[in-house]
Amino acid sequence: MKVLQVSAEIFPLLKTGGLADIAGALPAALTAVGCDVRLLLPGFAPILQDLQDASLLAELTAPWGERVRLLQGSLASLATQAYVIDAPALYQRPGSPYEDAQRQPYADNYRRFALLGWVAAQLAQALDKSWQPQVVHSHDWHAALAPAYLHYARARQAQRVGSVYTVHNLAYQGVFARQHFAELGLPEAAFAMHGLEFHGQLSFMKAGLYYADRITTVSPTYAREIQTPEQGCGLDGLLRSRANMLSGILNAVDEAVWSPATDKLIPFAFDALKPAGKAHCKAALQKEMGLAVQPRAPLFGVVSRLTEQKGLHLVLSAIDDLIARGGQLVVLGSGEAWLEAALMAHAEKSPQAVAVNLGYDESLAHRIFAATDVTLVPSRFEPCGLTQMYGLKYGNLPLVRRVGGLADTVVDCTLENLAEHSANGFVFDDFSTDAFGRALRRAFALYARPREWDAVAQRAMQTDFGWNASALNYLDLYRQVAA
Ligand code: ADP
Ligand code: GLC
Repeated sequence: MKVLQVSAEIFPLLKTGGLADIAGALPAALTAVGCDVRLLLPGFAPILQDLQDASLLAELTAPWGERVRLLQGSLASLATQAYVIDAPALYQRPGSPYEDAQRQPYADNYRRFALLGWVAAQLAQALDKSWQPQVVHSHDWHAALAPAYLHYARARQAQRVGSVYTVHNLAYQGVFARQHFAELGLPEAAFAMHGLEFHGQLSFMKAGLYYADRITTVSPTYAREIQTPEQGCGLDGLLRSRANMLSGILNAVDEAVWSPATDKLIPFAFDALKPAGKAHCKAALQKEMGLAVQPRAPLFGVVSRLTEQKGLHLVLSAIDDLIARGGQLVVLGSGEAWLEAALMAHAEKSPQAVAVNLGYDESLAHRIFAATDVTLVPSRFEPCGLTQMYGLKYGNLPLVRRVGGLADTVVDCTLENLAEHSANGFVFDDFSTDAFGRALRRAFALYARPREWDAVAQRAMQTDFGWNASALNYLDLYRQVAA
């Protein structure tokens, strides 16, 4: 099965969130189940730098007349064949791949990412004579025009190429002014309610949802939630009408990157059978972050984008209580200024109990998961969420809200779940300080019973979050849509 994966980010080359982790893990996971995977990526500097044995596959004229080059080679970090769009005027900009230094989306984002979908459709039409995909699998709004271009190219295609579109986050939709539609090279008919028109504007997300042969999202619960008005971001009607084509395939953990037994980024190795290293990791992090070095202080961790989605105002509201109960908090994140400032104020007020690192630091994220006892993920909504799974692998008991993929991966430590050995964390329902506070008290209560806590943590570390099952689910979809 020849599959072209199309995404804007990919770990370890370019990452702003979980999308990159998944895009980076899929090639190996799909190869292991027999797929022949190639990647299509925008030519951001770190991606171009990683491309080995690059050759020019084609010079192309984008629908709006811009000349771009398509390179082909092998990505050293991923050991995968890749096509990379070399268009310096579009992609060679410092900082975030999506925003300028003032955190404003680039005005030409519609071109920068339309190009990604458009080139995917060129590859589907045998641009590379030696390799033609049977399926184009595109991810998130950045790559969401691929199914639309493919749909309209089908008349010209010798072989039918299937499309799969994965929603990692329905809240980021890629909506642009109507006037830009004319530049995209799609037929007029596409700008319609039955197409990519969305309240008079042009929606990349809607193109993916409307034209893809199959839609997936990253957890079964989120697949149901996005069909409701509460979580559908205005697209629930379309999603309900395509319910037979929509499924949730749970994200998994790349164990080559996230395993405490082999992780080179943490100071002491450990695993379920030899857990002692975790206490050393905790002491090392407490020292590093200036926290009181107290082995029995329950250490709570947050590794997160600091946005509305993540519900971190609930954490803010509980910090005083958390400290009063003898806990500690470490936060690694960046995002909204008010949240950064509010967290920082707590760290300044209580440096022995609260440590905040504002910024993006891949290696510190590993050290935090290795050190903490509880990973906090109180999200308003969460398509899948990866940090609760990373936390579990590193012996944390996550404290999460029962939404999306959090609901599919964390089981509350109720007495009955503890008795049945299914418990692995703390789950609350209402998006309220009260419900969050009660879950926090449950965490303290269990932490006061070290033998029980250790037994739950040991089982947590042994959970199978491997890619095999999810990769087979994707393969099944590819078979359904390929010629
Ligand atoms: P989302 O994609 O919504 O941000 P996920 O939980 O799926 O949430 O994935 C987040 C990914 O980004 C994880 O790999 C997490 O460790 C990482 N991450 C988030 N914030 C930071 C940060 N400030 N520094 C390092 N890694 C981070
Ligand atoms: C998105 C979601 C997150 C998910 C990630 C990877 O960024 O917010 O829940 O885990 O994509 O699929």
